[in-house]
Amino acid sequence: MEIKDAKFEISNVDVRKCPDTDVPEYAFIGRSNVGKSSLINMLTRRKSLAKTSQTPGKTLLINHFNINNGSWYLVDLPGYGYAARGKQQRDEIKRIIESYILNRRQMECLFVLIDIRHKPQAIDLEFLEWLGENSVPFAIVFTKADKLGTNAGAAMVEDYKKVLLRHWEELPPIFITSSEKTRGRDEILDYIEAINKVVKAHQETDSDVQDVNLSEETPSENDIP
Ligand code: GTP
Ligand code: MG
Repeated sequence: MEIKDAKFEISNVDVRKCPDTDVPEYAFIGRSNVGKSSLINMLTRRKSLAKTSQTPGKTLLINHFNINNGSWYLVDLPGYGYAARGKQQRDEIKRIIESYILNRRQMECLFVLIDIRHKPQAIDLEFLEWLGENSVPFAIVFTKADKLGTNAGAAMVEDYKKVLLRHWEELPPIFITSSEKTRGRDEILDYIEAINKVVKAHQETDSDVQDVNLSEETPSENDIP
C-alpha cells in the first residue's frame, strides 16, 4: 500500500473530541523518546509531519494524521514513563492514554514501540500485560534497529520473545524497524492494509444487514388494510 496523502488533522487531550468517523485508525505508543513520532514520519515519508525531539516528552497530546484523504488515520500518542516529568503531569498523561485506548472503538491496532537496544523493562511488560487484561489488539515494533548490527538486533528480539512467552501463550505480530534507514516500512503498511480490508468488508456486511432490516420495516402495499 502506498501513502499518497498525509495531513495533520487535530490534537486532543480528550478522546471524545477525536474525529467522529468510522474509518480505522492505528496508534503508536511506547516510552518517551522511543521513536513514535519518527516512525510516523518514516511511514508517511514526510520529514516533519509528527514533531520529533531529542528531549523526551515532546508529544503530549493525541495527534490524528489523516491518511489518503480520510481512508484511515495514524495516531501519535504521548510517551509513558518519562521520569523527569512531575507526578501530576505523568498522571494526566496516563489518564489521556488509558482513556484513548479503552474508549476509541476505531482503533484497530495499537503499535507498542520498544527500543531494540534495551533488555525487557518492567514498565513495558506491565503495559503489555494491561493491554492483555483489557483485550486491546496490539503489535510490537522494535525501533532504532540501525543502532545495533543485524545479528545483535536479532538476538535482542529473540531474548524479548522468550520473556514474552513466559507471560503469553502466543506472540503478537512483531516488526523490526529503523526510521533512520527506512526499515520495516512495507511490513507495517502491509499489515495495516490487511486490517483495513477486513474492516471494510465488515462494514459492507453490516450495511447490507441494515438494508435488509430497513426494507423489512418499510410498509409495503400489502400492509395497508
Ligand atoms: P516523545 O514524543 O517525546 O514521547 O518521543 P517519541 O517516541 O515520539 O520519539 P521521537 O520520534 O521524537 O524520537 C526521539 C529521538 O530518537 C530523536 O532524536 C530521533 O531522531 C531518534 N530516533 C527515532 N527513531 C530513530 C531510529 O530509527 N534510528 C535512530 N538512530 N534514531 C532514531
Ligand atoms: Mg513524539
